[in-house]
Amino acid sequence: MAKILTLHGVNLNMFGKRDPKQYGTATLAQIDEQLGALGKELGVEVECYQTNIEGEMCARIHQAFTEKVDAVVINAGAWTHYSIAIRDALAILTVPIVEVHMSNVHAREPFRHVSVFAEVVKGQICGFGVDSYLLGLRAAASAIQ
Ligand code: DQA
Repeated sequence: MAKILTLHGVNLNMFGKRDPKQYGTATLAQIDEQLGALGKELGVEVECYQTNIEGEMCARIHQAFTEKVDAVVINAGAWTHYSIAIRDALAILTVPIVEVHMSNVHAREPFRHVSVFAEVVKGQICGFGVDSYLLGLRAAASAIQ
């Protein structure tokens, strides 16, 4: 069975408590549960991982390379806008990467309009709340060869 790794970055463990106008009220555990349920429907294994430590995120991406996961869905939170370290780690992967955001980053502050991952991901989905993740998982599953 194909395996899709979903990566959640810095501060995303606070979903459900932080800024509900931007991010809704679903907790990260509830999002992961929905991803798992959709994975079953799509016939793919879904693993979810969250960290607030940049180096740990890089190490998990390296592990994804070694493990040969089939695709990655990533919401890196604020790291999206400046972490060259995570971008370089993602660039090591040869499998499809889908970048997702709960909020519409383009309708927010200018610093959120830039993703340093843009050139190394297959595509981006933002602005649909939890559905951004679910759409991202569908996109990743269909991008797997
Ligand atoms: C976010 C958008 C980022 O700009 C922000 O720093 C986040 C969450 C989103 O899911 O909308 O932490 O990635």
